[in-house]
Amino acid sequence: MKCSFDKYTKGDTTIFHGDCLEVLPSLPDNSIDLVFADPPYNIGKKFGRFKDSWPSEKDYTEWCFQWLEICIQKLKSSGSLYVMASTQAMPYLDLWLRNRLTILSRIVWHYDSSGVQARTYFGSLYEPILFCVKNPKSYTFNATEIEVETRTGAVRKLIDYRKEVPTPYKSTKTPGNIWYIPRVRYRMPEYEQHPSQKPEALLKRIIKASTNVGDCILDPFGGVFTTCAVAQQLSRRSIGIELQLDYIKIGLRRLGIASHFQGEKLRAMDKIFVRRNDKNIADRIREEKQSGLFNAQI
Ligand SMILES: C[S@@+](CC[C@H](N)C(=O)[O-])C[C@H]1O[C@@H](n2cnc3c(N)ncnc32)[C@H](O)[C@@H]1O
Repeated sequence: MKCSFDKYTKGDTTIFHGDCLEVLPSLPDNSIDLVFADPPYNIGKKFGRFKDSWPSEKDYTEWCFQWLEICIQKLKSSGSLYVMASTQAMPYLDLWLRNRLTILSRIVWHYDSSGVQARTYFGSLYEPILFCVKNPKSYTFNATEIEVETRTGAVRKLIDYRKEVPTPYKSTKTPGNIWYIPRVRYRMPEYEQHPSQKPEALLKRIIKASTNVGDCILDPFGGVFTTCAVAQQLSRRSIGIELQLDYIKIGLRRLGIASHFQGEKLRAMDKIFVRRNDKNIADRIREEKQSGLFNAQI
């Protein structure tokens, strides 16, 4: 089979431009500590030129099983795999994966939305994530690195009077499987032009928990390479794969791999923080730029 993909590397970060079904087999088996897979969800979303839609649910899940199978081959025996999917598709992946790996957590990534989700049923405000390991007796889980505040101890400051000497409740704990993390919004500094970019905070928790410094992380659906960006921040090695050139160009810039692509300077988008229909929009942007507000944090 003739493979056609391009590879860009700098330091500990490598990104591939191509179809993950072609790129994944080229990676060495048993070499990856963590796979984070955030595939298209088969819900008709548009990613640049790619339409996230398969002829049937069966076609979609069979495609998922193909790349999941290869990802499992690439995982070390102590490795972990996190996979995201739509609420509709996740049961199929769960049933398939539980025959191949041990599913340790079924995580709910919960977020809020100020817009109306649905008026005739309960709108979906979460995305499921499975956390699986190859060997439940030997895998990385750095519980102390990801502790969160407890309500009883840190927020309500309650005392446990059942103890012989009354003692304050612990103020931190390992997070449970419901994670409230806001979605990436336009005004956030981490925002890139991608319709389903995942928050850095989500990846930070996963990478800190399931890898150590120097470990290697694989993301077969890189998007704008949030996984690789967080891996860099946390001194981990990473490999990201993405089908679409526009997102590759964002990744090259975001990850500091290249400042130019085929003669084009790779620039972060200019964000506009005034109403689009404002009569004096050009003047307002100029003023914001001069006052340093342009690209300011929310
Ligand atoms: C849900 S998005 C991933 C977003 C990413 N987690 C982020 O934070 O930026 C899925 C991505 O997979 C890409 N994609 C779709 N099919 C692919 C394939 N066969 N191989 C590699 N990438 C693919 C899409 O272009 C899209 O950018």
